Amino acid sequence: MNQPKQRRAPLITFEGIDGSGKTTQIRLMSSWLEQRNFRYRIIREPGGTPISEKIRDLLLDKENKGMDAVCEMFLFSAARAQVTTEIILPALADGIVVICDRYYDSTTAYQGYGRGLDVENLRRVHAMATYNTRPDCTFFLDISIDDAFTRKIHANEKSDRMESAPVAFFQRVRTGYLELARKEPERWTILDASRPPHEIAAIVTAKTEDLLRAYHHDLSEH
Ligand code: TMP
Repeated sequence: MNQPKQRRAPLITFEGIDGSGKTTQIRLMSSWLEQRNFRYRIIREPGGTPISEKIRDLLLDKENKGMDAVCEMFLFSAARAQVTTEIILPALADGIVVICDRYYDSTTAYQGYGRGLDVENLRRVHAMATYNTRPDCTFFLDISIDDAFTRKIHANEKSDRMESAPVAFFQRVRTGYLELARKEPERWTILDASRPPHEIAAIVTAKTEDLLRAYHHDLSEH
């Protein structure tokens, strides 16, 4: 039986290892949406609500270096459940485009491929934590681990608990992302993060424009 077409606004996610340039692309995307008078909301994960921000602090605090991988996975998922019900789902239902700086694919890449937790089991956790919400489009900023580390050093940023992981961990995370993108090519767009930001942004906005056009077309059909 055909499911009735969902008319919620599009959910767009950005993924990539730390230092891949997500923040710059999200900033460019938001000014693009603003110029076109789209209603949108940006969420960073983990975070986005007072409860989720408290969980973020726990997760990134370097004092918590003894954190178990399963504990870590559930905390990321717990923060996600809260921001999904409190912010993301109501916004989408209200026709607001939601842009997430990371969503459940980060957990698959970091806790699944990176820490070695079972990826099949994670699918069930994601379904619960997101209330079965799936991004319509996921942009993956792909960068070599060397380039990402060099960028962070140049930015002179202090590393948090997650960023203090060894190089091999980030290699596995990157491999995981590429694998996820390969499995769901209709949802994922792989972007070469070593290209100039405006070139990447041109691809992002072209894709987004198509997505928003399809959404508005659906709306006008009902
Ligand atoms: P951020 O630096 O992009 O704000 O993300 C916080 C860190 O948490 C980053 O190192 C990626 C990591 N992370 C996970 O390990 N699993 C997750 O599910 C999410 C959302 C982030």
